[in-house]
Amino acid sequence: MKNEKILAVTGASSDVGVALLRRIGSRYSAIAAHYRHSPERLEGLDRELGGRIVPIQADFADESSTQAFLEQIAQKGLMPDHFVHLAALPLRNVKFQKSSWQDFEQELSVSFRAAVLCSQAFLPHMAKQRYGKAVFMLSSYVVNQPQIKYAAPYSSVKYALLGLMKVLAAEYAEKGVTVNGVSPSMMETKFLSQVPKLVVEKNAMESPMRRNLLPEDVVPALEFLLSDGADCVTGQNLAVTGGN
Ligand SMILES: NC(=O)c1ccc[n+]([C@@H]2O[C@H](COP(=O)([O-])OP(=O)(O)OC[C@H]3O[C@@H](n4cnc5c(N)ncnc54)[C@H](OP(=O)(O)O)[C@@H]3O)[C@@H](O)[C@H]2O)c1
Repeated sequence: MKNEKILAVTGASSDVGVALLRRIGSRYSAIAAHYRHSPERLEGLDRELGGRIVPIQADFADESSTQAFLEQIAQKGLMPDHFVHLAALPLRNVKFQKSSWQDFEQELSVSFRAAVLCSQAFLPHMAKQRYGKAVFMLSSYVVNQPQIKYAAPYSSVKYALLGLMKVLAAEYAEKGVTVNGVSPSMMETKFLSQVPKLVVEKNAMESPMRRNLLPEDVVPALEFLLSDGADCVTGQNLAVTGGN
């Protein structure tokens, strides 16, 4: 295994991405850090980490922008040893009947197509060197029963990602590549900016820990799945739900 590893993170500009890079970024020689609208968050972090972040912009709703992101990674010599997929549209609290097919398509493009295209670009490289780790950010929506209401596009796509994660884990296990998921319950981040405050507060009150999570509560699960200690953990969906 190489000492100098490269990390690629989609949605590195997310609240979780920033917390993740702050915790483990200094362990990598270079980080391909994807953002859509918020490069300033990565610029500040790059100063903290001593210049190892390479910010790359892409709108995953647009397939050609997603392909251009992957071309830049290849051109800049940033094919990753570790890959974390965080990018997602903000959560919307919308009844199924009011969700258009376009809403489903947008979720599919940003979360699922990006995962497929990135995995097709990165996993063969990992398999060739017989080492690599990928982690997809899922959600407690794919862990808990009963299913929650008013998030059909988001929830459906997280289930699609769960299925992809399991199949990739099976296909790549013998090649030294692990593929896992992390499923957090509600975290107080900008992802919830379109969810009514009352819904967020009610979720906190009803959770066993009587609070919602913070990114710092979830990042250690990602850290573990990227660590040498998790070399024999693959195809798993690690729930971080505070007892739910
Ligand atoms: N917060 C929660 O309650 C919660 C719970 C369970 C799971 N999760 C999952 O955790 C992950 C990180 O969430 P977070 O709470 O940290 O969210 P966040 O801060 O809202 O970040 C979302 C990320 O997705 C990127 N993004 C949004 N639209 C995009 C598009 N069209 N193309 C490409 N990238 C796009 C954003 O980029 P810019 O900011 O640069 O525009 C940002 O990096 C997501 O996968 C989310 O589903 C969150």
